Amino acid sequence: MARLHSRDEPAAAPVTTTSAVRLTKVTKYYGSAASGVAALDQVSVGITPGTFTSVMGPSGSGKSTFLHCAAGLDRPTSGTVHLGGQDLARLDETRLTELRRTRVGFVFQAFNLLPSLTAAENITLPLRLAGTRADDGWVRDVTGRTGLSGLLERRPAELSGGQQQRVAVARALVTRPEVLFADEPTGALDPDTALEILALLRQTVTDLHQTVVMVTHDPVAAEHGDHVLFLREGRIVRHLDRPTAEQVRHIMSGLRGTS
Ligand SMILES: Nc1ncnc2c1ncn2[C@@H]1O[C@H](COP(=O)(O)OP(=O)(O)O)[C@@H](O)[C@H]1O
Ligand SMILES: [Mg+2]
Repeated sequence: MARLHSRDEPAAAPVTTTSAVRLTKVTKYYGSAASGVAALDQVSVGITPGTFTSVMGPSGSGKSTFLHCAAGLDRPTSGTVHLGGQDLARLDETRLTELRRTRVGFVFQAFNLLPSLTAAENITLPLRLAGTRADDGWVRDVTGRTGLSGLLERRPAELSGGQQQRVAVARALVTRPEVLFADEPTGALDPDTALEILALLRQTVTDLHQTVVMVTHDPVAAEHGDHVLFLREGRIVRHLDRPTAEQVRHIMSGLRGTS
């Protein structure tokens, strides 16, 4: 007789993947709720570990606010953010600062390196701030992957824009963060150098299974990612998988046209 499911066998569990970062009904007001519109309005989304997500939308649509709330740089007015399973609202300021230093990496448009430190010192700064010893093998691996091995003793002023941004990517990777967040990381670079940085971010996802969330205006930049989230007036209004620059351009012009 064919064996049927016995009563004490658990029903097939729903497939749940833990998100690298998950926002649930996140609303953010700057100032008081009565005084204006929400920069983020009931945003719910989970980012799958080991994927490359771009966040796009017209100027003022809430992209930077999304990134800051997701990374624990800013607290939502309501709703919850889980990073690597940790509810950020449960952390006091000290532990939130610690989380920002060790569990998220940040890359900014303007590189934000410390001018008086060498490339090597900039890269290992997050480890020193966190009071942890550098794992020399990992630091060598990161500097090799970012193509910086011969440039480690230089100060930022002695590096090109693309090289400085590679230092910033290495610094963001050095703590093995849950998520690497980037806000317009190619905004200050010429097109060829921008492609180099996008290829580097792509490699960290493909080779290191790093999770990357990047804000960008550039449809070509978004093409390097796996997914795109489109924001408009603080809400996620579209998702796109395996984006092409042409599809992204089309959706963006629609969002601008109706806002
Ligand atoms: N610190 C702030 N104080 C007040 N309003 C802000 C602040 N930061 C952003 N905003 C407002 O929130 C909205 C979303 O801003 P932002 O997240 O920077 O958008 P984006 O990055 O898409 O251009 C905008 O209306 C902006 O003016
Ligand atoms: Mg912005």
